[in-house]
Amino acid sequence: MFNVVLFGPPGCGKGTQSEKLIQRYGLHHISTGDLLRDEVSRATPLGVEARKFMDNGMLVPDEVVIGMISSRLEDTPDAQGFIFDGFPRTVAQAGALDRLLEFRQAPIRLVLALEVPEDELVRRLVERGKMSGRTDDTEEVISKRTKEYYAKTEPVAQYYEVQGKLQRIKGDESIDSIGTTLGKEVEKFIDPVAGTARY
Ligand code: AP5
Ligand code: MG
Repeated sequence: MFNVVLFGPPGCGKGTQSEKLIQRYGLHHISTGDLLRDEVSRATPLGVEARKFMDNGMLVPDEVVIGMISSRLEDTPDAQGFIFDGFPRTVAQAGALDRLLEFRQAPIRLVLALEVPEDELVRRLVERGKMSGRTDDTEEVISKRTKEYYAKTEPVAQYYEVQGKLQRIKGDESIDSIGTTLGKEVEKFIDPVAGTARY
């Protein structure tokens, strides 16, 4: 089993690049943002609680997201591997993920950190907000999400860097060329699924 984290600030391209990687490498995509938005749209008790944080650009409490990840891992025992997108976002979440994966003897092997200048991030998210309907894609909330990222999430890079797992990737190239760079990193560990292109 091969597990990889796609890491980086709001708007850096985690979701966009995950889409490409899941197809090519047969990995299972887990995006905590998507899981939370699904709970919000169904107005579940978890979603009602999470929405208060999301609409303010703040992180949802660790225990909520760790619980979601834990049940998602249990639901997919046969996965060949996972792409974690938007998780872990705190050092506590990173530690919890390590413990959850220990049971499967399938640690995180690689962390791909997409680096994009802040003005480009804001430009992308404001643009997406015109179409996406995401309540957190307004300039005010984007600014709060970005602050939350630098305060709580950026330290997670260091957590993986000391373990030699972090690869920093320039994230302000074209979508395809970033995909190629990410693919080369992944192919140090696994091959593409049959019938899909090798980078
Ligand atoms: P989440 O949904 O994870 O959002 P995010 O991390 O803030 O980032 P985005 O999903 O907005 O950006 P992305 O990096 O996926 O970029 P994308 O590919 O879409 O989290 C939302 C909220 O949920 C959080 O604020 C928090 O409240 C909560 N939450 C989620 N996970 C949590 C956790 N673990 N713990 C606690 N709370 C949690 O690209 C963005 C745009 O740019 C798109 O329009 C795309 O088309 C475009 N684009 C992408 N790449 C390029 C490129 N190379 N060139 C030009 N445009 C590009
Ligand atoms: Mg995303």
